[in-house]
Amino acid sequence: MALPVGPAITESLEIYEDKHGDPTAAIYSRFYADHPDAEELFAGDVMIPRRMMAGILGIIVDLADGTLDPAYSTTWVADHVAYEVTKPMIDSMFAVIVDEIRDGLDDSWTPSMETEWGAVMTAWSERTLTQYVVDDR
Ligand code: HEM
Repeated sequence: MALPVGPAITESLEIYEDKHGDPTAAIYSRFYADHPDAEELFAGDVMIPRRMMAGILGIIVDLADGTLDPAYSTTWVADHVAYEVTKPMIDSMFAVIVDEIRDGLDDSWTPSMETEWGAVMTAWSERTLTQYVVDDR
């Protein structure tokens, strides 16, 4: 599906925030449960993961509304290869963000949210992972 996709992603984030507040901590709990080794890479820093999640959610909203071209959505990738973030960690982060928002919305989650989140995360993850050139990770 071509981007932009529509308003459902922004709506879902707004509903999530009304119901539960900031999703950052819950997303990282899921992420670290999948990848305990990822938590070590932040070396106990509190601000970096928080700023990073604000950046990630901002990129998702900008991709969804067409403000950001997917071609420019991977400026962070080379840094992350250097930080020793692995492809499975990237995959997991993309998945746990959607899982947390979907579960948090419960009955308020709609088919267009599923479609639009799927389209944006697929487009972003395909671009990211094809640029994530690490032979053994
Ligand atoms: C697990 C270890 C990781 C470390 C140590 C790490 C570290 C960082 C750092 C230092 C930044 C810059 C933050 C700032 O000061 O603005 C950043 C940004 C970013 N990270 Fe990570 N990261 C990790 C995992 C991931 C994963 C798994 C993803 C998958 C999506 C990811 C996606 C991003 C994105 C998209 C940005 C840019 C946000 C923006 O443009 O504002 N990171 N990360």
